[in-house]
Amino acid sequence: MKVAVIGAGTMGSGIAQVCAMAGHVVVVVDSDPTKGDLALESMKSSLAKLASKDRLGGELPDQVLGRVSTVTSITAACEGTDVVIETVVERLEVKHEVFREVIAAAPSGALLGTNTSQLSITRIASALGDQGGRLVGMHFFNPPVLMRLVELVVGLQTTEETVTRAEAFAQGLGKETVVCRKDSPGFMTSRVSAIVRLECLKMVEEGVGTPADIDKALRLGLNFPMGPLELGDFNGLDTYLHALEALEVAHGERFRPTVTLRNLVAAGRLGRKTGWGIYRYGADGAKVEEHGA
Ligand SMILES: NC(=O)c1ccc[n+]([C@@H]2O[C@H](COP(=O)([O-])OP(=O)(O)OC[C@H]3O[C@@H](n4cnc5c(N)ncnc54)[C@H](O)[C@@H]3O)[C@@H](O)[C@H]2O)c1
Repeated sequence: MKVAVIGAGTMGSGIAQVCAMAGHVVVVVDSDPTKGDLALESMKSSLAKLASKDRLGGELPDQVLGRVSTVTSITAACEGTDVVIETVVERLEVKHEVFREVIAAAPSGALLGTNTSQLSITRIASALGDQGGRLVGMHFFNPPVLMRLVELVVGLQTTEETVTRAEAFAQGLGKETVVCRKDSPGFMTSRVSAIVRLECLKMVEEGVGTPADIDKALRLGLNFPMGPLELGDFNGLDTYLHALEALEVAHGERFRPTVTLRNLVAAGRLGRKTGWGIYRYGADGAKVEEHGA
């Protein structure tokens, strides 16, 4: 199958890699012309690591990478595609703009997925006019190559056929699926992780513990695979702030972002991608300072 991945950031590059590893031909597009090459670099290094652990099913990294190309327009990316996965910034107006271009360019049978973490699928689908039934939430987790779940989210107009096709597609990528039947902001997963991380940030602000100790407490005491604060840095604090703002609108005050989070984002401390968020990171992405916030 041919898959168009719109957005080549943290998630786009991982999703493109997962699709290529499953044998699909993948075309990646981003509005920032530098992002395509960065995504290819990131895929190259990830594929090399997987190959060294014998996890590429006998293929060489270059064979997988050979199925991925980058283009500069959404129209070119969508030409003749079977599946479109939108994974641009978490802003409704940007996703609307993207889907208006997608619907004009993609074949009428193409399955349309959005990787939004918590926006309403129904509202995103409003950009598709009478084609809204073709859109489904296809929520991958970071890093897409390692995380096992794709959370499918059903909008008000999403057809059963679209859900069935999305399930088959995601399972064909080697992922497990769950179906969130109600288009409720935050779905099943983002809603819970947002509130847990918020509680951790509040504890940092209250001086209950250092970020490192709070993360350690949740890892070792509650069996979280990764501390919520370090995961926030990993996913991007700007993405997290946008998510909380939308969740606050949907579910009320309990999701209100903290002052510290707003300040970190305003200062450009967005997490691992900028080398500094709650923690500090070296050029290799490893944590260099335990008590950054
Ligand atoms: N980061 C995570 O952990 C995570 C996890 C699950 C889902 N998501 C969701 O995935 C989506 C992308 O998140 P991300 O972390 O990869 O963000 P990111 O900021 O790393 O990447 C977003 C990319 O979209 C591009 N973009 C913006 N406008 C565009 C346009 N009009 N056309 C094409 N490209 C455009 C940007 O240049 C950027 O490269 C968001 O909806 C986010 O909520 C993120």
